[in-house]
Amino acid sequence: KILILDFGSQVTQLIARRVREAHVYCEVHPCDVTDDWIREYASDGQLKGVILSGSHASVYEDTTDKAPAAVFTLGVPVLGICYGMQTMAHQLGGKVEGGHKREFGFAAVRARGHTALLKDIADFTTDDGAGMLNVWMSHGDKVTELPPGFKLMASTESCPIAGMADEERKFYAVQFHPEVTHTQQGRAILERFVLGICGVKPDWVMRDHIAEAVELIRKQVGDEEVILGLSGGVDSSVAAALIHRAIGDQLTCVFVDHGLLRLNEGDMVMDMFAGKLHAKVIRVDASDAFLSKLAGVSEPEAKRKIIGREFVEVFKAEAARLKAGLDGAHKGAKWLAQGTIYPDVIESGGAKSKKAVTIKSHHNVGGLPEQLGLKLLEPLRDLFKDEVRELGVALGLPHEMVYRHPFPGPGLGVRILGEVKKEYADLLRRADAIFIEELRNFIDPASGKSWYDLTSQAFTVFLPVKSVGVMGDGRTYDYVVALRAVQTSDFMTADWAELPYALLKKVSGRIINEVRGINRVTYDVSSKPPATIEWE
Ligand code: XMP
Repeated sequence: KILILDFGSQVTQLIARRVREAHVYCEVHPCDVTDDWIREYASDGQLKGVILSGSHASVYEDTTDKAPAAVFTLGVPVLGICYGMQTMAHQLGGKVEGGHKREFGFAAVRARGHTALLKDIADFTTDDGAGMLNVWMSHGDKVTELPPGFKLMASTESCPIAGMADEERKFYAVQFHPEVTHTQQGRAILERFVLGICGVKPDWVMRDHIAEAVELIRKQVGDEEVILGLSGGVDSSVAAALIHRAIGDQLTCVFVDHGLLRLNEGDMVMDMFAGKLHAKVIRVDASDAFLSKLAGVSEPEAKRKIIGREFVEVFKAEAARLKAGLDGAHKGAKWLAQGTIYPDVIESGGAKSKKAVTIKSHHNVGGLPEQLGLKLLEPLRDLFKDEVRELGVALGLPHEMVYRHPFPGPGLGVRILGEVKKEYADLLRRADAIFIEELRNFIDPASGKSWYDLTSQAFTVFLPVKSVGVMGDGRTYDYVVALRAVQTSDFMTADWAELPYALLKKVSGRIINEVRGINRVTYDVSSKPPATIEWE
């Protein structure tokens, strides 16, 4: 395995991602672990290399963060990236200077000498035969003097020491960021480090991971009972399938139906987990409670809060019953399982790094384990979304379930503008099901993919306004829906999808004809920003 020490850069998780993509297992830990921790971590002989991440701090100004000295005496290769390079230089006797103008953006790096890390990796070659790399740089400080034993590996015009290497000890460092996609050869460079220089075999595959994860869950849980909140989303579904594989009937899933789910969604979840996987699932129909709490409330954040609070209440009541040993959980539950995935861990600063910036904390059931006195089981904590999906498929979950578009926790509650009413939710569910069905039916000839797979998220929004229409000989005065479909890689920015007119035509025709009560369909052509993906 590879150890990535996190100095707090926002892109540390991308390093882990690139390493995993090379089928090498890696873990991210905070940079302030102790020397003893490092030696213990390496004591089973599995540690094959260390990567020191970037940081937004400066070696001189606002941090005294260093890599634990033991990193440099373990005898394994070390790669420093950006701040990681500076601290390596600083700690091994070189010189780093601050106070420079911040360099941010693309740069052309000239590879010097033939180091094992960069040899034959280049975007283009100069007339004098030097390999050139197009890279992404973001730094203020720079290394101005090589530490003893190091040679120059790369340079740019404004940063004469942009890479250095001590090939004897297999220490390498680059000032640029190989983990971001802007650095075209970045993937090749990281692969070269982990596979070539560290000599790790690229054999980390999902199959092995299932066996390991199952073993770990059994060891953690023993013969105790576990409760899991199943939402039907990808993460909780995969977590449920994995834990069920490990401990069978010791797992009880609680599925809270808040009445704001998509058409037939509750039945599909029950059919999959109770029917096909034979897992214990308790379906709590709480739709009346949710709808009555939402009556008269139209402000989006107020609706979100009510739904979130009610969810916690309902789940807590159910969990308390299970903890007390009711519903066949004869020993009384001791564990609460959650489908937390690696990006959640990093985003909420939960990798216990003091440095990682908290961007959002977004768990519906955050804080619940303490309140309930349950131990927390998070078997997906080390996995990225695409790995979770791969795992789901390997566990036998259907492709449609594992590759579903994301669905917000508050469900249709934020897709019915203003006050939520059952009548609106019923109309919206039927219209939305038609839209999704046609997205799956329409295949793009160029890619052979359905428009469902070509969009990142697609749904229907209910607008509680009435407009006039004509149907047969009669006048109608009915509601309006908006179709929304976006393409995005991170959901932070998004483009509206250029769906084929034929698809839009089919969907609008079907909704107006089949869903009495809706007589007008519109298509949302707003990008994010400035619009958001959801309407509320
Ligand atoms: P926006 O509307 O902010 O959405 O552009 C970005 C992504 O987040 C989802 N979303 C939510 N997910 N609870 C959730 O669990 C929420 O309150 C919530 N609001 C938005 C949205 O579906 C999209 O994928």
